Order: sequence, then structure tokens, then C-alpha cells
Amino acid sequence: MSVTVIVGSQWGDEGKGKAIDYFARNADFVARYNGGNNAGHTVINEHGTFKIHLVPSGIFYPHTKCLMGNGMVIDPQVLLDEMKEIRRAGIDFEKRLFIAQRAHLIMPYHKMLDGLYEQAKGAGATGTTRRGIGPAFADKISYNGLRWADFIGKTFDERLAVQIGLKNKIITALGRKSSRSTLDVQGARRLASGDALDYEDVREEYWNYYEQLKPYIKELAPIVHKGLEQNKKFLLEQAMGSLLDTDWGVYPFVTASTTLASAATTGLGIPPRKISRIIGVTKAYSTRVGAGPMPTELPDDHPAREQFAETAATTGRKRRAGWLDLVPVKFTAQINGTDALFVTKLDTLSGIDELKICVGYKLDGKPVQFSEVEGAGMARVEPVYRSFRGWQEDVRGIRKFADLPKNAQKYIEAIEKISGVPVRFIGTGPEREAVIKR
Ligand code: GDP
Ligand code: IMO
Ligand code: MG
Repeated sequence: MSVTVIVGSQWGDEGKGKAIDYFARNADFVARYNGGNNAGHTVINEHGTFKIHLVPSGIFYPHTKCLMGNGMVIDPQVLLDEMKEIRRAGIDFEKRLFIAQRAHLIMPYHKMLDGLYEQAKGAGATGTTRRGIGPAFADKISYNGLRWADFIGKTFDERLAVQIGLKNKIITALGRKSSRSTLDVQGARRLASGDALDYEDVREEYWNYYEQLKPYIKELAPIVHKGLEQNKKFLLEQAMGSLLDTDWGVYPFVTASTTLASAATTGLGIPPRKISRIIGVTKAYSTRVGAGPMPTELPDDHPAREQFAETAATTGRKRRAGWLDLVPVKFTAQINGTDALFVTKLDTLSGIDELKICVGYKLDGKPVQFSEVEGAGMARVEPVYRSFRGWQEDVRGIRKFADLPKNAQKYIEAIEKISGVPVRFIGTGPEREAVIKR
């Protein structure tokens, strides 16, 4: 039996979607365990290019069973749109996509509140995706959430009425103070306007979603445990990256779910002892979307920035970028228990004469560990760099480590040595097959 968890080692967008699509060829089950459609996982394979927000990225193989775990929060409209897109690409997932009845729903008021809180915080905003993630998880934890199980148990209407009553008070109070014209996410302007929601409208809308998704909604525990008993291979897909974990990221610049490999246990009902391997996906440089400290961030006009240019898969925002920072990578490997690294995007470094890797932090002139620096301190740390000679050759298409330019080999070996984790997989292009296995 094997249960492998794929986690991002950085601030998200490490290439988890690609890694899952690569490993899923050997998996029986592929499962998401945390977060919601704040995730954007890029998959490029023979079926096309996909930005996946909710369904497991292993959906493209007809032999996989795909589970959306109870640890997720689900926006039904986004899920239905995504299912339509995947179906349109010719992928049949009837009878092999399962949605946990325990998963919580993202409601219209969650999206409104996300926008209103961000606006109220002004310059101190988190830079959320405005998908309602924080408010939905807050409701889950404070016993105010709504789940698929509420439709099954016929408690939805009654519980919705209470929530609409409560949330309308907050929305209208906050909304009056908010400006109506500063939101960046499509559709969020109307939602954040502070208008009260109509109970009947929301009730009808969500029953309609439930009717469409009913065939996929199940209690996952028996499915998961039967699979474990039968020694099936599980591949568990993290969303958001380890540095956005609510507890271990730099609060409050985090997301609202536990993202670490350990959350795969509660997010799917898998006993911790069953996890056999943890792979940390690590981009060959650093990126981040949203606010919060990023010690190795480079200014837009830095020559290397052009090669690090990326657009966020969910919100279309420009990703912040900088040199590879191994200080947090080493730390997240410790708290995840990472067995091996999958380094992505090595190909994007070709042509940079001098590469830098951050190997330590200094605060007020003194060396500090990642975990010692909290909150505001992280914004002041100075990165300690080691320089590496770059390479000019295009490495796309290379499938053997020995065929990489010597300096690229040295860069990978340095990542292993500094992080303390072996690099077993290297991405040399965005496509499924562009991987060097060591
Ligand atoms: P995720 O959220 O962790 O799945 O990552 P995203 O999909 O948001 O961002 C990763 C980006 O890197 C996507 O555009 C991928 O297509 C791309 N990518 C992943 N691995 C590689 C690689 O080895 N080389 C190149 N050039 N691009 C890659
Ligand atoms: P994947 O799975 C990168 C960031 C947001 C913001 C913070 C909180 O594609 O790696 P939220 O909407 O979650 O309340 O926003 O978290 N964020 C991500 N950044 N990749 C992601 O997912 C992210 N999911 C959330 O930009 O800074
Ligand atoms: Mg992403």
C-alpha cells in the first residue's frame, strides 16, 4: 500500500498540478484535502491546458478515482463550470468523481464578506483571492457552516435562514462604508456592494446546485477505507503551498486552511500512520501572490525578473518573484516530513549568468532561523545569498540528469545539500512528460 502526499514547499504555485498529473499514472485514488477554488493548478497534457481549481488534477486518467475531501470548501458554481470544461475535453468522470458530503459550501455571503473585509483592511489587506475562502472556513470552525450533508438531512433551509439573517446584518453594516468601485475580481463588485441577500433566491440557487451534483456526493470514509484495505495507491494533492498554512505561514499573510501534509489525514479521514511518502514540489525560484513578506523578492526591473514572470492561475494577478529561498523550503520540509523534492521550472533559469540562492536570514545583523522570526520581523530579514554560475543551454527536452549542463547539475545538488532533502524529480518544461527522474 502507498499513500503519497504532494505538497508545495513555498507560497503556492510550485507546480503541484503538473506533479500530480505526472504521478497519477500510477495512482488508484487522487484526492484533494484542503482549501477551495483559491487554488489554480496548471495541467498540460495530451488533452490540452487546464487551470484546475477544485477537482483533483489526476482526473485525466480514466483509471483514477478522484476524491474531493471533507477538508475542502466548495463553490458549487465553480465546480459545475470546471466539470463542464473537463467533460468538453472528452474526459469521462462519471462514477469516478466523489465529493465528500462533509465538505463545506462557499455561500454568496462568504464571497461578499471576503471582499468587504479586504476593503475594510485597506493597506493592511491580505490580498486574498476573494473567493470566500476565509469566511467559509471561519463559519465551519464557528459551527455556522453549511454542508452537502444539510441537503441530505433536510436541515439546509432552516440553517440557511439563520445564516442569511445573520450575514445580512453584517453585509449591510459593512457595505454602507465600502466603496463600490475598487474590486479586481470579476463579479466581486456586485457581491461586495453591501446589498442584503434574498433567502429564497439563495435557497433555490443552492438546491439547484445540489440536484446537479447529487450523483457525485457521498460519504467518502467507506470508499477511502476500502481502498486502504485493498492496498490501493493514493495520491493526495495539497492546495496553497506550505508557507500559506494558517499556523506556520507568516500570519496574517496566510490562507484559511491547514495546508501541511498532516492535514491530508483529517481532510480525508486517512490515519496518519498510513502516509508513506511526502514529496515537496519546489519551484527553482520563488513566487508569491497577495501580500506578505517575501525576503528574496526582486524589483520588476531586475534583469532576471523577465524569466520569472508569471500570471496567477486563479485571479490573473501578476505573481511576485525572486531568487530561490531555501530557508522556508528547509523549514517546510521539516514540518511536513518531506522525503524528496520535485524541483520545477529548471528550464526557466537558462540564460541567467549568475544565479542566487538564499541560504540564511539575518535580523538586525544576527543569523536567525525561519521559525524564530514572526510577523513583522519577517518583513525586515536580510537574505544571505550564495551565488552560482548559470548556464546558457536550453534544457527543455532533457530527460536524464547527466545530460544537464554541469552548472545546472550543481544548482540541483546545492538545493539538496542546503535543504537536506534529496531532489528526485526535476521539471524541464510545463508538459506532463518534461521530467527528469533521478
Ligand atoms: P500549482 O498551483 O502548484 O499547481 O502551480 P501553478 O499551476 O499555479 O503554477 C505553476 C506554473 O509553472 C504553471 O504555469 C505550470 O505550467 C508551470 N510549470 C510547472 N512545472 C514546470 C516546469 O518544469 N517548467 C516550466 N517551464 N513550467 C512549469
Ligand atoms: P495553489 O493551490 C498561491 C494566497 C492568496 C493570498 C492568501 C489568502 O494554486 O498553489 P485566500 O483567498 O486563500 O483567502 O488568500 O493566500 N493563495 C494562494 N497563492 N497559490 C495558491 O493556490 C493560493 N491560494 C491562496 O493570494 O495571499
Ligand atoms: Mg496555482
